[in-house]
Amino acid sequence: MTIALRLSGIEKRFGATPVLRGVDLDVRAGERHALIGPNGAGKSTLFSLIAGEQRASAGCIELHGRDVTRLGPPALARRGLARSFQTTSVFARLSVRENLRCAVLASLRGGAGFAARWFGSAQADARAADVLDAIGLAHAAERAAATLSYAEQRALDLGLALAGGGQTLLLDEPTAGMNRAEAARALALIRATTAGKTLLLVEHDMDAVFGLADRVSVLVQGRVIATGTPQAIRADAAVREAYLGADFGAASS
Ligand SMILES: Nc1ncnc2c1ncn2[C@@H]1O[C@H](COP(=O)(O)OP(=O)(O)O)[C@@H](O)[C@H]1O
Ligand SMILES: [Mg+2]
Repeated sequence: MTIALRLSGIEKRFGATPVLRGVDLDVRAGERHALIGPNGAGKSTLFSLIAGEQRASAGCIELHGRDVTRLGPPALARRGLARSFQTTSVFARLSVRENLRCAVLASLRGGAGFAARWFGSAQADARAADVLDAIGLAHAAERAAATLSYAEQRALDLGLALAGGGQTLLLDEPTAGMNRAEAARALALIRATTAGKTLLLVEHDMDAVFGLADRVSVLVQGRVIATGTPQAIRADAAVREAYLGADFGAASS
């Protein structure tokens, strides 16, 4: 089986404080992999390292077998890595469609000549329209992004990650701030729009990912303490211990 993303011995210190203490993690090509763990475990820090926004203190990151440990976000984007950003990356006064066109155009490479821009523009229109449909915002295409509801803004955020055409997607707490019904819709949307892609998804709420993830890794105090199917993770004693008090595993789904 092909490994899309491999983390080996990843460490991150802020000053003297170790936040990540030797993370090993393989994400298989085409799988939906959830990274869960308590608040402060280091999930977002790990994401920022994978996305090239921060440098690891030690360790190695490989994307499809190539060492990308020292690459920044633009170089990673060219290698097919896309991450969702918080809604701050949305251009508030541009329409939903224009936001998606910008994301597509930003991802298109090629000459800057007239023909390239002309065809690039047509391609951007088509791809933006596809993503609009996929994220269920076709009805809101001409609205300014600032006027969207919170859940709609998160759907647009997912759309911006999809618009670039990347094959490996990083989503950090895509259901944060949503009620249960909104979260369920958001996860269904993620499932539908990421078919065939490699997905690494961070969630604090473990129940949220059990219906979506092929495999789950549990990060506790800067270390991956378990990786397995959702069922195996639910039954894992060390994981239960780490989540003690969260009533983990008591609820069935
Ligand atoms: N830039 C930073 N400087 C210092 N400490 C940080 C920084 N970013 C995160 N931390 C600390 O690292 C720990 C893990 O944070 P984070 O990765 O956001 O955890 P999670 O996403 O799992 O909740 C926390 O204790 C946090 O305070
Ligand atoms: Mg976080």
